[in-house]
Amino acid sequence: MPRFAVVGNPENRRVTLFADAVRSAGLPAPRLLAWADVLRDGARFTPGEIVRIDSPGENAEVERLLRGAADPTRVEGTARWYTRFTAAVREVARAASAGGATLLDDPAELAVLFDKRRCHGVLRTAGVPVPESPTSGPGAAAVGSWAEARSVLGAAGLRRAFLKPAHGSSASGVLALESDGRGRFRATTSVELGPDGSLFNSLRVRRYGSEPQIAAIVDALAPDGLHIERWIPKAAQAGRVADLRVVVVDGRATHAVVRTSLSPMTNLHLGGARGDLTAARASVEASGARWTDALAVCEAAAACFPRTLCVGVDLLPKTGWRGFVVGEVNAFGDLLPRLTGLPGSGAEGLDTYGAQVAAVRSTQGKSGTYRARP
Ligand SMILES: Nc1ncnc2c1ncn2[C@@H]1O[C@H](COP(=O)(O)OP(=O)(O)O)[C@@H](O)[C@H]1O
Ligand SMILES: [Mg+2]
Repeated sequence: MPRFAVVGNPENRRVTLFADAVRSAGLPAPRLLAWADVLRDGARFTPGEIVRIDSPGENAEVERLLRGAADPTRVEGTARWYTRFTAAVREVARAASAGGATLLDDPAELAVLFDKRRCHGVLRTAGVPVPESPTSGPGAAAVGSWAEARSVLGAAGLRRAFLKPAHGSSASGVLALESDGRGRFRATTSVELGPDGSLFNSLRVRRYGSEPQIAAIVDALAPDGLHIERWIPKAAQAGRVADLRVVVVDGRATHAVVRTSLSPMTNLHLGGARGDLTAARASVEASGARWTDALAVCEAAAACFPRTLCVGVDLLPKTGWRGFVVGEVNAFGDLLPRLTGLPGSGAEGLDTYGAQVAAVRSTQGKSGTYRARP
């Protein structure tokens, strides 16, 4: 019988939902290691344990330990967060291997997934459709300021672009930028620029039309690393902009939701809502594209991370639902409570966590340990 251990934030519903899925499969409840303890004292594992690394997010103490910022609503500090988090994951992996346990995640892949520039480069090299980007991969020059961002956008001919903190999540610090081609810019973002130049995450998407303000925001974001890519005009559903979150478990697209929004960002906390998947699928087929191709793009993106059991792919449908590009791949993209698997996916009747538990059981060899796919 598989014995699971989870490194996560105990109060978080991700941890609770995964534990529910393990128990529903008739297995002993997972052993829980709290990120706050692991960050301070390290981790220990027992032989044969199967270790799931979950998100360190939404916990003020863990956030303080990783980002060093006392105020969790601040946008800055993601470079330090990245350095500390990836080091902690490497330490968990070392402890797992020393204790004879097996990881469902991989430190090197996680380090790519949490760097939007590297992640974009890996997807592009593998032939996965992605928005054009002047900051893709390790070879691209770093963008250190608004002045540099402006010249990079000009050189790449990008009149409309997304500018994102390289190590960001939940749309924190993301700017949808457009220029009129005559030097006037407009930014749509949830960033709130404080009077002293510090940046705060807000729940309200707002517009900045003055270049000094945009410059102040981008100059404050730049030390944490910036990723820039073409703004893909997305398809619409019932008058709202739409994209898809597709969860891929052990190589297979198992769960999908449509996310719709009135702003260019579809994140749920910014007013995004679940859309109609059946209608989206019909729109894809009606445009002459194929729904199975959309899922295949997500599976190709996930295949770039073969040692990670589960990823959540942000799939951006182009205007008219005629084609797709991958916006990003999320390491912790499986929080879709109560959603059951796609017909024919093998995860029918299971939520995203149940699908992962089932995948681990079906890939367990006679040795009784989980084998990551090659
Ligand atoms: N290149 C793009 N073109 C159009 N929309 C985009 C693009 N990149 C991101 N988005 C939108 O912005 C949102 C946030 O971007 P994302 O890369 O997912 O950042 P985060 O990791 O902060 O969620 C996405 O949900 C998507 O709807
Ligand atoms: Mg996203």
